[in-house]
Amino acid sequence: MTENRVRISPADGKLGVLIPGLGAVGTTFIAGVEAVKKGIAQPIGSLTQLGTIRLGKRTEHRVPTIRDFVPLAELDDLVFGGWDIFEDNGYEAALKAGVLDPRLLDQVRPEVESVRPWKAVFSQDYVKKLDGRHVKTGASKMDLAEQVMADIDGFRQAHGLERLVMILCASTEVFLTPQPVHQSLEAFERGLRESDAAIAPSMIYAYAALRRGIPFANGAPNLTVDIPALLELADSQGVPVCGKDFKTGQTLMKTILAPGLKSRMIGLAGWFSTNILGNRDGEVLDDPDSFKTKEESKLSVLDQILQPRLYPDLYGDFTHKVRINYYPPRGDNKEGWDNIDIFGWLGHPMQIKIDFLCRDSILAAPLVLDLVLFLDLAQRSGMRGIQEWLSFYFKSPMCAPGLYPEHDLFIQLMKLKNTLRHLRGEELITHLGMEYYD
Ligand SMILES: NC(=O)c1ccc[n+]([C@@H]2O[C@H](COP(=O)([O-])OP(=O)(O)OC[C@H]3O[C@@H](n4cnc5c(N)ncnc54)[C@H](O)[C@@H]3O)[C@@H](O)[C@H]2O)c1
Repeated sequence: MTENRVRISPADGKLGVLIPGLGAVGTTFIAGVEAVKKGIAQPIGSLTQLGTIRLGKRTEHRVPTIRDFVPLAELDDLVFGGWDIFEDNGYEAALKAGVLDPRLLDQVRPEVESVRPWKAVFSQDYVKKLDGRHVKTGASKMDLAEQVMADIDGFRQAHGLERLVMILCASTEVFLTPQPVHQSLEAFERGLRESDAAIAPSMIYAYAALRRGIPFANGAPNLTVDIPALLELADSQGVPVCGKDFKTGQTLMKTILAPGLKSRMIGLAGWFSTNILGNRDGEVLDDPDSFKTKEESKLSVLDQILQPRLYPDLYGDFTHKVRINYYPPRGDNKEGWDNIDIFGWLGHPMQIKIDFLCRDSILAAPLVLDLVLFLDLAQRSGMRGIQEWLSFYFKSPMCAPGLYPEHDLFIQLMKLKNTLRHLRGEELITHLGMEYYD
């Protein structure tokens, strides 16, 4: 089968990782990669570093690691850069985020400290709860985009980078709906010149990346790159994009459990999810406009997985509520409760309770690593536009207009692995398996 493999250019040279938002997720990712490179920690949670992939028939026993199967950039070749509204270097920001043990952080201090953020594109109109001074000024939003491109060019030159990837880890912006200015590249560029209010800072980073031919991933729930104007630019530049909103904590659990309940035809009366968290992400989400962006992303999951229209008796009338409560004493130690009211045979009611004491950024950091490596692979494989095979990583996966997103974690994983098999000209795995019984 391997004669059908896609041409993939080699992962030679340094890969620059551009991160708007050097907060809890961004710094936990950077410090983690440095710790793994030094051999003092394991990249737990990362499919690209630990995952395997079955090839051919089960009788063939061919199960390489994913990193041996597809040509991914090496961790030693990653170079980090980023933007933030605070001047703290990566080490100071990681200490303040309070996720990693300071003893571990000290072992990678010089490497993490060397990441000094460029001034951010920021306005409080889009994140009401934050106020920082390390912010660009310019005559127009186009001017700001050009300044971001200049940062990128300088970074590329200073480190002799062969390729780059941008992954947005900045705070959640207020809820925006698509406007006329988002509908075409021409309208968007006019909007940049006229500083149209519907163009958020995250869109300016995305625009700058795509203009420079750099793949873009959106870890926040904002609209950002999910607008026709920027998809048009991604297509014309031949650049892959993906998003939105890293699928960690509570939504990860939801997309693991809901497919299981549905596969057994167990009914759902209600799913109540509530969280307490005290980090900066929690503070930002305490603003109703930012929370609305997050809520939309979190709520969409169950409807798509459970398909109420196909199963009105089981899922036609369930209540789904999501709450996030900012509670400073907890810091980054989030606690998420789920109360799930289900019903079984003859309508008998039952309940499931989950109490997930998770560290959001610990769950998010390996996703950042995988997305960086897979987007770079996609770029070298000539894949452009929305990368639906990376839905596995997102709460609110981007997909082609007219399609509904796939949320079921297990279908997402199968799609991801089949995409890798396709790239290498290997047979896709359908799990039919009749040949074993002929
Ligand atoms: N597991 C997770 O932690 C998780 C899961 C899904 C999505 N997310 C999303 O990832 C993002 C980051 O989460 P976090 O926990 O690291 O939050 P955080 O508050 O610790 O970090 C965000 C950083 O972005 C900076 N920032 C804000 N606006 C900016 C701008 N315009 N340009 C540059 N920097 C800017 C802030 O100063 C802060 O340092 C949020 O949007 C969050 O909703 C996180």
